[in-house]
Amino acid sequence: MGKLIVIDHPLIQHKLTLIRDKNTGSKDFRDIVKEMSMLIGYEITRDLPLQEVEVETPLCITKSKALSGKKLGLIPILRAGLGMVDGVLQLIPAAKVGHVGLYRDPVTLEPVEYYCKLPSDVQERDLIVLDPMLATGGSASAAIRFLKDKGATNIKLACLIASPEGIKVVQEQHEDVDIYVASVDEKLDDHAYIVPGLGDAGDRLFGTK
Ligand code: PRP
Ligand code: URA
Repeated sequence: MGKLIVIDHPLIQHKLTLIRDKNTGSKDFRDIVKEMSMLIGYEITRDLPLQEVEVETPLCITKSKALSGKKLGLIPILRAGLGMVDGVLQLIPAAKVGHVGLYRDPVTLEPVEYYCKLPSDVQERDLIVLDPMLATGGSASAAIRFLKDKGATNIKLACLIASPEGIKVVQEQHEDVDIYVASVDEKLDDHAYIVPGLGDAGDRLFGTK
């Protein structure tokens, strides 16, 4: 089964409190989601392979470490996943970005796909799927399935808040996928919103409600 990594760094937990607050406006919400995504990106890239290289310092030539050039891809799930892209890109600017558009049908709660544009070599890349909210798990699971159908074999999922139900669904459907989250919240409500959560991440990021 894939690992669940809850990132309990004090900075992440502090920022999480700020975005949970219903009085935090869209600008601050966006900025903080970006900062949290960078911090999560730091953790998620912990196992990137290194190679030894030679470098000349002002004093001498020495051996030192450099990234071995693994190809990475960031896959935000539209819309809310967009809020996480820039933070992670700041750490790994060479990553390519692919977009998967899914929305959750408000009645059936099933994910509906409406857009997809992926890097042409997606099957060669290690992918990080980005979505702030993992609620029923339907959207993330469908996006991961979609990427696997396109040939992707190495996928991680990065979220800000997850429900226990969503984690279970992803772990059951995608045993090979590790999940990185800032918090596992208590439960889903009757409309499949995460409680206590932060409300609708897309609306809060883009000010649409
Ligand atoms: C939200 C969120 C996830 C999904 C999570 O997106 O960003 O993609 O819901 O719910 P699930 O785990 O039950 O599938 P939403 O469908 O509201 O679309 P939006 O990002 O365009 O607002
Ligand atoms: N999508 C959101 O944006 N928030 C939730 O709590 C659940 C799904």
